[in-house]
Amino acid sequence: MSQLIIRSAQEDDVQEMAGLDRVCFADPWSEESFAYELKLNQRAFYIAAEIEGRLVGYAGLWAILDEGHITNVAVAPEYRRKGIGRALVTSLMEVAEENGLTSFTLEVRESNLPAQKLYTELDFKPAGIRKGYYHDNGENAVIMWRGRE
Ligand SMILES: CC(C)(COP(=O)(O)OP(=O)(O)OC[C@H]1O[C@@H](n2cnc3c(N)ncnc32)[C@H](O)[C@@H]1OP(=O)(O)O)[C@@H](O)C(=O)NCCC(=O)NCCS
Repeated sequence: MSQLIIRSAQEDDVQEMAGLDRVCFADPWSEESFAYELKLNQRAFYIAAEIEGRLVGYAGLWAILDEGHITNVAVAPEYRRKGIGRALVTSLMEVAEENGLTSFTLEVRESNLPAQKLYTELDFKPAGIRKGYYHDNGENAVIMWRGRE
């Protein structure tokens, strides 16, 4: 694989992040949402994965007290199963821990077994279900936590 760069996401990644979201999710965030996150949201952390100048993945979280709420993790389909998702989430949590966050949580679709496997490998544990959490198809979310027993 050409050289992978894991770095903080910047304001000028907004277009590519929104483009990636459209490919990866049934309910993608808009460019405006990403612009808010990167320019204005002081409590948001976003990490980008870049290969040959192209954004191929990103991961983000919101800091709420000492908890990191992971908002999204996305890797372009043609770059999956190469460790990029794992590298993004690991780096995101490292940056967050440097900023005082001690535990992490997220919601993931019940049917999204690849993502659940990734999070389980990173020591997240299932901690409950949010029924009908996803508006597009009424699917349940699995709530997962890391670092809070
Ligand atoms: C989930 C996602 C981010 C994983 O990204 P990725 O770069 O492919 O993940 P990695 O290569 O780092 O995989 C790490 C581990 O997760 C698990 N995993 C990832 N994808 C998997 C799949 N399709 N099937 C089974 N296990 C999978 C494996 O254990 C893998 O380790 P291995 O390749 O050594 O077996 C990616 O599939 C994606 O963008 N999906 C669409 C968006 C999404 O669902 N995001 C999560 C929302 S909560």
